[in-house]
Amino acid sequence: MEIKSAVFVKSSETVEQCPKSPIHEFAFIGRSNVGKSSLINMLTNRNGLAKVSSTPGKTITINHFLINNRWHLVDLPGYGFAKRSKDQREQWKQNMDDYFMKRENLQCVFVLIDSRIDPQKIDLEFIDYLGEKGVPFVLVFTKMDKSSQTEVAKKITKFKKTMLEKWEELPEIFLTSSEKKTGRDKILKFIHELT
Ligand code: GTP
Ligand code: MG
Repeated sequence: MEIKSAVFVKSSETVEQCPKSPIHEFAFIGRSNVGKSSLINMLTNRNGLAKVSSTPGKTITINHFLINNRWHLVDLPGYGFAKRSKDQREQWKQNMDDYFMKRENLQCVFVLIDSRIDPQKIDLEFIDYLGEKGVPFVLVFTKMDKSSQTEVAKKITKFKKTMLEKWEELPEIFLTSSEKKTGRDKILKFIHELT
């Protein structure tokens, strides 16, 4: 799929404020600093489309981008940001519950995982949460240019093994590097097939 246009639509604090348009949407989420903004910019080929906040993790907004006048790419607020207060964490949880239950046009959630590190409890818990809610998702391992292919393969094997302790099947997995534009075609093809 070619990206002909990519425009920021709006930031919403609640699911009620999200665009009413029924077009399909694809949401991106992951821990702070996992490379979410970089991946969105890489996929859309627009540097600076997804802004890197100077105060990461503070804003708890749902950001919609309209792609090719045809589908929405959604930048969801990340999890695991240590500086959030208890109230902010509870608001995040409430917002996500609402978003995942009410957003009927949501086609798939892309859960970003740092390819350099061992399976993290917070990522596994979030994946289990999506499973409990019956939300379709795929995994995207990020920053694969930062370690050797062997190292990346080891981390992914470990992640799969940990997931299989609870899950019967594994989701689709994408390997990416926003630096090297790795994985772009495969992700866009996957989205194209669902739009
Ligand atoms: P928050 O919005 O703060 O939650 O972070 P984020 O998940 O949007 O991460 P962001 O895209 O801002 O990237 C965090 C840091 O990782 C930045 O310094 C990026 O340049 C770097 N980074 C992201 N993706 C890659 C990648 O594929 N390769 C390399 N080498 N660095 C990356
Ligand atoms: Mg970001």
